[in-house]
Amino acid sequence: MKQKILVTREVFDDVLDYLEGYFKVDSNQSDNLLDAETLAARLADKAGAMTTIADRIDSKLLRQCPDLKAICNIAVGFNNIDLAACTSTGVMATNTPGVLDDSTADFTWALILATARRVTESERYLRAGQWQGWKLKQFLGTDVHHATLGILGMGRVGQKVARRALGFDMKVIYHNSRRLPQEIEHDAGNATCVSLDELLSRSDILTVHTPYSQATHHLIGAAEFAKMKPGAIFIHASRGGVVDDAALVAALQSGKLAGAGLDVYEGEPNLNPGFLTLDQVVLTPHIASSSEATRHNMAMLAAKNLVAALTTGNPPNLLNPEVRGA
Ligand code: DGY
Repeated sequence: MKQKILVTREVFDDVLDYLEGYFKVDSNQSDNLLDAETLAARLADKAGAMTTIADRIDSKLLRQCPDLKAICNIAVGFNNIDLAACTSTGVMATNTPGVLDDSTADFTWALILATARRVTESERYLRAGQWQGWKLKQFLGTDVHHATLGILGMGRVGQKVARRALGFDMKVIYHNSRRLPQEIEHDAGNATCVSLDELLSRSDILTVHTPYSQATHHLIGAAEFAKMKPGAIFIHASRGGVVDDAALVAALQSGKLAGAGLDVYEGEPNLNPGFLTLDQVVLTPHIASSSEATRHNMAMLAAKNLVAALTTGNPPNLLNPEVRGA
């Protein structure tokens, strides 16, 4: 008899077809977020689930799902999953590393250019019928070429963002939990490892690529914004909560920062209302990985993780290998 699984949100048809080849699939193709009670009820008799970053997988939920063996997130981030609770209840958890790095790096560059050169702000002005003609000082922005790009978190995505900076003749500096080997620094735009304080004080454009955890909660707050270069541009496309959004609003309101390009927020899908009042902020709804090909690859990788988890007990992207001994 086929094992039962839940797909918590809409996915691509061929991904569902693939899963249906192995499992009896209960799929939420309505694409509305399942509330905690509904999620628990639909997961209660399932052996596995494909989840998204909006689904909270915590110990309360896991206790209600005795048959559950695998949670496969369609994301590289997994701060929606309580890994320790998964391990103690014998549930394998997986993510989708690798397949979204280039798309996320591309989009980071979309935010950098749109923010520095005031693309969305000037487009709003034009669409509102306010343009009266060319003026020398119209929408003066910040040059990206030859600027210093600071990267906080030099993992897979940070490195790809850095590599793209070569085309703009930029100086790349970074801060990371550990210095990268020289050959990787070389490939990543000849990046130089610096302290966090130096990163903050030297970057013309600072971009954050740090996963969220308790250790990175509000890694960038009022004290860090105070250390940044006056007139710097701030970019964030990693995970809400790494940045103190209220402190960012204050740094923008005071004029300390020239602008910000943001794809992620504390408390998504809600965002600090202060952002909406600021023209110099480019706001997008957590879509950095959202190219057709990449979102498809993410969903298919999560599906393959789920098939491997439930058929071999050995999914390629297992986040809690200690579950095997638990
Ligand atoms: C991830 O994979 O963690 C992304 O944030 C989802 O788009």
